[in-house]
Amino acid sequence: MKLSVIGAGYVGLTTAACLAQIGHDVFCSESDPEKLTKLQNGGMPLFEPHLEDVIKAGRKSGRLHFGSTREAIAWGNAIFICVGTPPLANGDADLSAIEGVARAIAKHASGYRLVIEKSTVPVQTGAQLQKHLSVHSRNGLSYDVASNPEFLREGSSVEDFLHPDRIVIGVDSPRAENLLRQIYEPIIGQSFSCPLHADCPRHKDPIFLATDTNSAELIKHASNSFLAMKISFINMVANLCEVVGADVTKVAQGMGLDPRIGSSFLNPGIGFGGFCFPKDVQAFIRIAEKSGCDFSLLKEVEKINQRRVDHFIEKIRKELWVLRGKRVAVWGLAFKPNTDDVRFAPSITLVKTLLAEGATVRTYDPKATAKARAILPEVTYCADAYQAAEGADAILIVTEWDEFRQMDWKRLLSAVEQPLVIDGRNLFVPEEISRMGFRYVSIGRVDALPCQPAGAEKVNPSWPAVNNAQEVPA
Ligand SMILES: NC(=O)c1ccc[n+]([C@@H]2O[C@H](COP(=O)([O-])OP(=O)(O)OC[C@H]3O[C@@H](n4cnc5c(N)ncnc54)[C@H](O)[C@@H]3O)[C@@H](O)[C@H]2O)c1
Repeated sequence: MKLSVIGAGYVGLTTAACLAQIGHDVFCSESDPEKLTKLQNGGMPLFEPHLEDVIKAGRKSGRLHFGSTREAIAWGNAIFICVGTPPLANGDADLSAIEGVARAIAKHASGYRLVIEKSTVPVQTGAQLQKHLSVHSRNGLSYDVASNPEFLREGSSVEDFLHPDRIVIGVDSPRAENLLRQIYEPIIGQSFSCPLHADCPRHKDPIFLATDTNSAELIKHASNSFLAMKISFINMVANLCEVVGADVTKVAQGMGLDPRIGSSFLNPGIGFGGFCFPKDVQAFIRIAEKSGCDFSLLKEVEKINQRRVDHFIEKIRKELWVLRGKRVAVWGLAFKPNTDDVRFAPSITLVKTLLAEGATVRTYDPKATAKARAILPEVTYCADAYQAAEGADAILIVTEWDEFRQMDWKRLLSAVEQPLVIDGRNLFVPEEISRMGFRYVSIGRVDALPCQPAGAEKVNPSWPAVNNAQEVPA
């Protein structure tokens, strides 16, 4: 089928590339001229594992094209809207980009179009789109509007798109439902040629759930808000563990063994960020408020999350006493591993606070440096995690990149000023790091004092050395 995708961000680019991969003829548009030129010249405006290869394959097959939104509107019978819906100051989703696209479709399209909202939008946006298309249509446009919320995760977007657990559509006509079924048929039956797995393991076929438009829109906001709630819940449990001397890792493990709870999203840390959870929780609160429902549970989820960076900074202050003049290494800037996205990342608030208090920040992120540089120009960006740690009074772990799990701690011990690791993502078993001669402070667990490592010369003498993991005091 000839399909159009509007907006070449994390969602739009993945959608366009994967739809071409499963056999459709796709035209993807982007309004940012710099991004568009890059794409048209074979470059990438963002990092996402495997995406570049899938795009290359799409271009080579002649099934993936990039250009203007005007061209995209003329191209496909079905148009996926994948533009951003950032938060306004009052927490509402800013729908101006969606409105702009709807107006352009109404003005320039003729004949039938299925207009599909893939961007995350408040409930009843579909109804607004219907109204808007009807008011502004000029050239005998006939249309259906459908909701098709996207559940991909940055860092694994291609995998998530091609092997989803579920595909949700919200439709108000059989024609729209049939078209969406046709579009997704290769994914529903897992019958496409998989670019990720040479011998693609037979994935469980995804559930195809068709609902009305309002329900589909609500499914997306309710899902993200629920996951955010799980994170804030475990973060409060972590706070409690710190006070009573329990281990949140074990508590989470015990909770997660209950299939009604499940173990995912029970990792405590410095808080959730990114372009989805913070804004979607805010938008859901506002949707509820405007509908006369006081969703105070979610207000608490948001407040707990906002306090996470403060809680982490308190840990840093407790260890370093005065921050002015201290040199800290920040490992990781992206809001999660395997992405270059720093939008609403806790690292941004953290680094800004450290700088405001007079600390010097040296940082390293495997992918997010370019995007962070635009927001945090006052920071020293290093080529690797070792360079960032040189002369540091503390190493702060902010993003759980895999490469941080494989560091040479002996090398680090001789590079730092103070052997102190404050881990906002609980990457390590405390005793592992203390055995390397570092004091290790993490989230919701008992802090570990440094043990004297074999051959170490530079352990801070002011901390009592302990001999083995079992003797680490509370
Ligand atoms: N990022 C995620 O993990 C994720 C996951 C699921 C859903 N979503 C939702 O999907 C939507 C898009 O998210 P994203 O992360 O891809 O955002 P993004 O900012 O990366 O991408 C949006 C793109 O749309 C472009 N754009 C805006 N108006 C346009 C127009 N008129 N014509 C062509 N291009 C236009 C922007 O320049 C931008 O490149 C949001 O509503 C988001 O909440 C995001």
